[in-house]
Amino acid sequence: MKENKLKKMKDISTSLAGVKLRNPTILASGILGITTASLIRIANSGAGAITTKSIGPVKREGYVNPVIVEVPCGMLNAVGLACPSLDDSLGGLKDTLRKADVPVIASLYGRTVKEFGEMAEKISEVKPDFLEANISCPNIENEFGKPFGTEPETSARVTEGIKNSTKLPLIVKLTPNVSDIKEIAKAVESAGADAISAINSYGPGMVINIETAIPVLSNKVGGLSGPAIKPIAVRCVYEIHETVEIPIIGIGGIQTGRDAIEMLMAGAAAVGIGTGIMKRDIKIFSEICEEIRNFMNSEGYSKLNELIGKAH
Ligand code: DHB
Repeated sequence: MKENKLKKMKDISTSLAGVKLRNPTILASGILGITTASLIRIANSGAGAITTKSIGPVKREGYVNPVIVEVPCGMLNAVGLACPSLDDSLGGLKDTLRKADVPVIASLYGRTVKEFGEMAEKISEVKPDFLEANISCPNIENEFGKPFGTEPETSARVTEGIKNSTKLPLIVKLTPNVSDIKEIAKAVESAGADAISAINSYGPGMVINIETAIPVLSNKVGGLSGPAIKPIAVRCVYEIHETVEIPIIGIGGIQTGRDAIEMLMAGAAAVGIGTGIMKRDIKIFSEICEEIRNFMNSEGYSKLNELIGKAH
């Protein structure tokens, strides 16, 4: 009994750009955890850190419903980066920071390189623990005509612009929809990124309702997430780990402790969880931690660090 209790207490803390996380599970940015109340509920249920939905420069309604459709191994979504006005978003973020007892990652996007810098400056005044640049949204128009994260040069320009506007640690979230993710990872590291999160949703994909003979999503196409993209995410994290020194948050299809361990072994220092909440509810964070501890106990690992990059 006593031994059991000791095993349960195994330290699985990790660190990202100098910030300590009590465990490696992070709420990924997206459609779950939009309000302060839901973000705090997720923090209280055991997540090691929480990420906001991307904050944008102006109020956006986003697309009309349906914005999500389930597919056999995950889901497609095209929300259209819906967000409140910047003032309202900053108010919500302040409230979240006041109530959260874990690090808060503020996700942001801009329509131009300049706007990314301006957004970073404004959000930094509220003092989140990290900024995360969403340069990888598949559903949004910008001055570049495609996601900034699809080219090394534009990825670096956004990163540099943000780093010149803030002292906060910067995570840059990469898209898997590129022929060589290593190039993008290298570019953002050289431009000053403190960490990389990988991956954003894959695709886009499409689902057609054959009774009505029209695509289900109002935007017709949406980003694919969930277990369907896990092997792609693991490969991306593995390649990024071989290329850069900065820490990686591995995201894509993680639903169990075993999935999380696979991602850590590929080279992630922490893991993001989003779609998995739909399958296991918000208890997924504490359950995955428990599953990681059990695996470490049965396989003889004493520190989380021993798992990170182990597959290389
Ligand atoms: C949306 C944004 C994303 O970053 C993504 O991966 C999928 C969808 C959106 O808001 O539409």
